[in-house]
Amino acid sequence: MTLRYALITGASSGIGTAAALALAADGNAVWLTYTGGEAAALEAAEACRAAGAPDARVSRLDLRDPASIDALIAEVDAAWGKLHVLVNNGGVCPYRSFDDITIDEWDAVMETNGRGTFLLTRAALPLLRAAAGTPEAPVDRSVVNLSSIAGQQGALKTGMHYAASKGAILALTRSFARNLAGEGIRVNAVTPGPVLSAITDHLQGPARDALTSSIPLGEFGKPADVAWIIAALASPKAAFTTGATYDVNGGVRID
Ligand SMILES: NC(=O)c1ccc[n+]([C@@H]2O[C@H](COP(=O)([O-])OP(=O)(O)OC[C@H]3O[C@@H](n4cnc5c(N)ncnc54)[C@H](O)[C@@H]3O)[C@@H](O)[C@H]2O)c1
Repeated sequence: MTLRYALITGASSGIGTAAALALAADGNAVWLTYTGGEAAALEAAEACRAAGAPDARVSRLDLRDPASIDALIAEVDAAWGKLHVLVNNGGVCPYRSFDDITIDEWDAVMETNGRGTFLLTRAALPLLRAAAGTPEAPVDRSVVNLSSIAGQQGALKTGMHYAASKGAILALTRSFARNLAGEGIRVNAVTPGPVLSAITDHLQGPARDALTSSIPLGEFGKPADVAWIIAALASPKAAFTTGATYDVNGGVRID
């Protein structure tokens, strides 16, 4: 079987690590990006190798910095020369009342989550195209974007800037899907509800209890509850799926 190469951003923690592990268990080579210390990323890469990844590498990436995005893609190009899967998972989620959102914080959230997703996806296209195969034997390639239930129904606890950036990710998902379907590159989004991670850890006390009791399935999701669907969308089994949004929200939003 052809070796498949997957790049996962924000993979030193939470949903990103779980997604890298799920992709590794499916036999993909994985490239994990991190923003802070390298140690957690190296540990996650080691776990990916143990889970079955034939290759697992790490690089620092700051989605706010276009030069950092280009440097990462150049690194992946030099080592692998192609990509089958891009998971746009890295992002920030400040909890802020709309009254208190500064212009700097608005810009930072939109740059990381919205512009970062756009720039990295565009920069990765030559590598996704390089994995196309032949007209007789086309090779499945796809992008999976982490949006959020906040991008669908708006923010209450999280900031409006976060909700706006995640709504932008849904529009980018559909736009890239429309523009790239002719090339066989699929683009889908996942919209988690409350999931246990650094993003939700700080929500404690009555606010956490209220959020928990608002989840019909009764508890926060785990990163692995989201990771399996990321890996499924990234797999050739999802070859007929593009431009779609998959909810993983414990029943918080049912329509
Ligand atoms: N946890 C939830 O309840 C929840 C719900 C909906 C959506 N999400 C989305 O899932 C994704 C993963 O979040 P998580 O819950 O695992 O939390 P997390 O904080 O563990 O993961 C976020 C990751 O993004 C990375 N990141 C932050 N700023 C970055 C930057 N400038 N450049 C590159 N990477 C950067 C961090 O290093 C971190 O690894 C995020 O996009 C988040 O918005 C999470």
